[in-house]
Amino acid sequence: MLPKDKLKEIVDYHVQQIRRVTDFVPDIALVLGSGLGALADEVDTEAVVNYNELHRFPVSTVPGHEGRFVFGRLGGVKVVIMQGRVHYYEGYNIQEVVMPIRVMVGLGARVLYLTNASGGINPEFSAGDLMLITDQIAMFVPSPLVGENVDEWGTRFPSMNQIYDENLSRLIEQTASENGIDLKKGVYLQTTGPQYESPAEVQMIRSLGGDAVGMSTAVEAITAVHMGLKVCGVSCITNMAGGTTAQAITHDEVKETADRVADMFKKLITGSIVKIANEE
Ligand code: HPA
Repeated sequence: MLPKDKLKEIVDYHVQQIRRVTDFVPDIALVLGSGLGALADEVDTEAVVNYNELHRFPVSTVPGHEGRFVFGRLGGVKVVIMQGRVHYYEGYNIQEVVMPIRVMVGLGARVLYLTNASGGINPEFSAGDLMLITDQIAMFVPSPLVGENVDEWGTRFPSMNQIYDENLSRLIEQTASENGIDLKKGVYLQTTGPQYESPAEVQMIRSLGGDAVGMSTAVEAITAVHMGLKVCGVSCITNMAGGTTAQAITHDEVKETADRVADMFKKLITGSIVKIANEE
């Protein structure tokens, strides 16, 4: 664990490095999940910063996971997009995994819009569905808040009473219905991965109340709530989780489904971002 002064120094340093490239101040931070990065092509781009240009910034080791911040306007709204993220299973410690979220807050973002690829647990879901994240279970991964608390960022014991903001979620649902998108709703459960779930684990997750399972988002949401941001999230159900189908899941299947729903995903995210920016 990094001591708090060191942790804050590293985050501030990343903000400074980005500030040498652009003075763009985003309103909304958007994280694009596996295979969902194409949305960044829709942005009227003002600046791009590759993670590997930033000294000591965590970079992804997964093939097909891009790694860059895109600054610009999406539907006219000032956004910073994380196109690609690092995961705990890549070997970074949990403070490093969530560091990019803290950096985007340092750049000015006040809303965090999370997206991911996940496995469907709820038997009513099917591959290709989009799910509004209503709540989460993060107890199978280390808390990103373990270690000394940085009081300037947030309180030692933050409430997780309402992680996913009701008003933002309502605007996402409204966008879905206006566009004829059958948006599912549910609880996201995070595991460390990288292995997919066994049938017994799928059954356990279902009995705990999980509707979708993934390897990324819950720790980012906790970090953002800790820093006082409003958070919302949409999961792309790229496959039914292991054990709910006879076939083995592959990373290629995850990417293929994400590609197939890319247009619907773009509509939902862009439309709801515009509504959020108008209301918040
Ligand atoms: N399990 C965990 N994470 C995932 C899955 C899955 O089935 N699909 C995409 N991300």
